[in-house]
Amino acid sequence: MVRMLRGLVILAAAVVALQCCELPRRADGRCVLFNFGDSNSDTGSLPAAYGFYLGPPAGRRFFNRTTGRWSDGRLYIDFIAESLGIRYLSPYLESSGSNFADGVNFAVAGAAAASNQSAIPFTMATQVNQFLHFKNRTRELRPLGQGSMLPEEDFRGAVYSIDVGQNDITLAFLANLTLPEIVADGGPLAAVAAKVEEAVRALYGSGARKFWVYNTGPIGCLPQTLALRQRPGDELDPAGCLARYNAAARALNAGLAAACRRLADEYCGSATVVCTDMYAVKYDLFANHDQYGIERPLMACCGHGGPPYNYVNLKTCGQPTATACPEGERHVSWDGVHYTEDANAIVASKILSGDFSQPRTKLQALCK
Ligand SMILES: *[C@@H]1O[C@H](CO)[C@@H](O)[C@H](O)[C@H]1NC(C)=O
Ligand SMILES: *[C@@H]1O[C@H](CO)[C@@H](O)[C@H](O)[C@H]1NC(C)=O
Ligand SMILES: *[C@@H]1O[C@H](CO)[C@@H](O)[C@H](O)[C@H]1NC(C)=O
Ligand SMILES: *[C@@H]1O[C@H](CO)[C@@H](O)[C@H](O)[C@H]1NC(C)=O
Repeated sequence: MVRMLRGLVILAAAVVALQCCELPRRADGRCVLFNFGDSNSDTGSLPAAYGFYLGPPAGRRFFNRTTGRWSDGRLYIDFIAESLGIRYLSPYLESSGSNFADGVNFAVAGAAAASNQSAIPFTMATQVNQFLHFKNRTRELRPLGQGSMLPEEDFRGAVYSIDVGQNDITLAFLANLTLPEIVADGGPLAAVAAKVEEAVRALYGSGARKFWVYNTGPIGCLPQTLALRQRPGDELDPAGCLARYNAAARALNAGLAAACRRLADEYCGSATVVCTDMYAVKYDLFANHDQYGIERPLMACCGHGGPPYNYVNLKTCGQPTATACPEGERHVSWDGVHYTEDANAIVASKILSGDFSQPRTKLQALCK
């Protein structure tokens, strides 16, 4: 009971945090967005970083070319950019055709927040360093009329979003840790929350004042997880998702929520920290798929092997051995790991509703 009351007090403090803050506002009502994370919001950094080719049918639905997005079309962050009235965020690592006038996307597919087991070295800490480098360079070049030309007040007034953690879960299970080991105090998922908190503190130190932190989605519902990680006797939840993977995601999210409350409390009066329940947003797609006209939520559109998951290792989307579902057929999962444009549109609209955020806030309201 005492613990419950304490929880309520912290919750109330978080709501007050928003009300008591005099937020820096932009005179022209324009939004600037800096994003950090993994493939869920990577708009093309991985192919730019490695010269790696993410081939068709990626992009078939909207861009008509392979932009480096892990989807048939737009990601949720693209729909958010549309609704904020800004350009799609260019990937930080892309040297061709990038425009950073409305912000920068530092997210890289495969990135982990804390794990040192990822083949991709762009951890949260590295992405934050890249941001600090970008900000320094912008300052140096601005007087010369070069670079992004983002003014200082744009850095101060920008929204800083973070969406990371999914790869840390994957890597922890791949290292053969058990669920209790993974979720333990001092374990790999506690490290994710700590790294996200560290990132927010470092950005705050550089002058950032508006933070939008997503928790991680139900990785146990992804066709790849179900096809490759399911063992005999494993429990499936009511939506057919792998229970221990979703339990790991929820444990990670509990740590993130606590970090968010701590930060919101501490920064009360000087910064806003909004935490958005991506898990709830995405889980709804699987649990209530009928409502969205989706017949097989656990089956990838693009892959190999057919039902139930259409996912086979080394025969994944983009490989010659993979085929995609007919255009127009609605799926949650595009390639077994990432979401389709149809799903991303729903995810974005729920994020933008503010209903899944704590404190309950609209992203648009932070920009004005
Ligand atoms: C992609 O092609 C479709 C159909 O030709 C067109 O409607 C759409 O505008 C194109 N998308 C872009 C981003 O050019
Ligand atoms: C990676 O992280 C683990 C757990 O934190 C640690 O024990 C190990 O020494 C690290 N390995 C390297 C190469 O840094
Ligand atoms: C940015 O510039 C400051 C000095 O203005 C320096 O202390 C800091 O190390 C620089 N950071 C990066 C990442 O270049
Ligand atoms: C995890 O266990 C599997 C099956 O026993 C084994 O093949 C794999 O090498 C192990 N991975 C690690 C990182 O120990």
